[in-house]
Amino acid sequence: MISGHHVREAKEMANGIDLTRTMAPTSVNFSHYLKEALEAISEPTMAKTLLRHHRYLGNELDRKAAAQWTARRLGYAPDLSQIVVSGGTQSALLVILASLVGSGGVLTTEEITYPAVKPICDLLGIQLVGTRIDEEGLTAEGLESVCKSHRPRALYCNPTVHNPTTAIMSNARRREIADIARRYQVTIVEDDVQSLLLADAPRPIAAIAPDITWYLMSLAKTISIGLRVAHVVAPSPDDMRRVLAPISSLSSWFVSPLSAEIATSWLSSGRADVILEEIRKEISNRQKIAKSLLSDTHHRTQPFALHVWIPLALHIDLQQVNDALLARGVRVQTSTMFTLDKARIEPAIRVSLGRPLLTSELEQGLRSVATVVREAR
Ligand SMILES: Cc1ncc(COP(=O)(O)O)c(C=O)c1O
Repeated sequence: MISGHHVREAKEMANGIDLTRTMAPTSVNFSHYLKEALEAISEPTMAKTLLRHHRYLGNELDRKAAAQWTARRLGYAPDLSQIVVSGGTQSALLVILASLVGSGGVLTTEEITYPAVKPICDLLGIQLVGTRIDEEGLTAEGLESVCKSHRPRALYCNPTVHNPTTAIMSNARRREIADIARRYQVTIVEDDVQSLLLADAPRPIAAIAPDITWYLMSLAKTISIGLRVAHVVAPSPDDMRRVLAPISSLSSWFVSPLSAEIATSWLSSGRADVILEEIRKEISNRQKIAKSLLSDTHHRTQPFALHVWIPLALHIDLQQVNDALLARGVRVQTSTMFTLDKARIEPAIRVSLGRPLLTSELEQGLRSVATVVREAR
């Protein structure tokens, strides 16, 4: 007899092996916790309130929970008037960048960056200029040079487990970047999405330079991408008011009340800690698998990171590597997608460890990656 597990395994494998999205592994508690939360919110008075109103900025309880959650990284609980709970990082970025940079303005970011930034800038008429990176992420010289040549109004950066290279910026570099931003009056927008998975990540730039930094911490990688909840901390209540004033009734970036209610109850009750711990445990297990199967493949990652970055020799044809992987039914992301200057693409692939539901699928995918990269040398 074929067990449910084997049927699911066969189905997953038949669709090929998807190592594209840097998703967190799933939690065995999701179903139970969700049932519990939905039961609580279907109580008649609660249901009426939730289903008849917007949750503009998140309510006070949402923002209190956000203050406690972000304090784990910031080292202090931000004032509630500095916090917005939004419907994900990307909707927050749209609003913040529209206000901080605006049409015709310049935003700088790592020269290899989170691919969502480019379409957001295109939509807003913002010019996006890449800053040089090294193994720590943004370089101080690179940022200073862009500040002199392009006068950016803001810097979007991802200094802790950078997507895609997994770089973690040192404390010293964080201070240098903050100093340069201050000197050239550049507002920093820091995306700290994977940081809570790490045991000892350096404090965010927002903790070094809170007065010039917008801090974004989505729950997408640490709790659940499906909730679509991101916490936003403004440099000050005044900054928050300035950004919000012209768009106070624009609902497209509001958090969904149902999601906010679930997120806040999980954050306040400790359910979120259980989920986070489960994700950390599973990703640590997957990191061990990656370490063993990619032992002969030059790669970069961090303990608890959801993905691996595999830089390839410059002579290697990235398209051929991708095609060879596809022929084996394995999908990854190539550096083309992350590189801003399409004339300067250095061949590399990003491999997600969290995406497959089954570790057997991950193992098969990583074996193919190791073989294809070896054969491409
Ligand atoms: C760098 C980075 N920031 C943020 C997110 C999460 O975005 P959102 O909160 O819109 O789901 C992701 C997920 O893909 C990401 O890679």
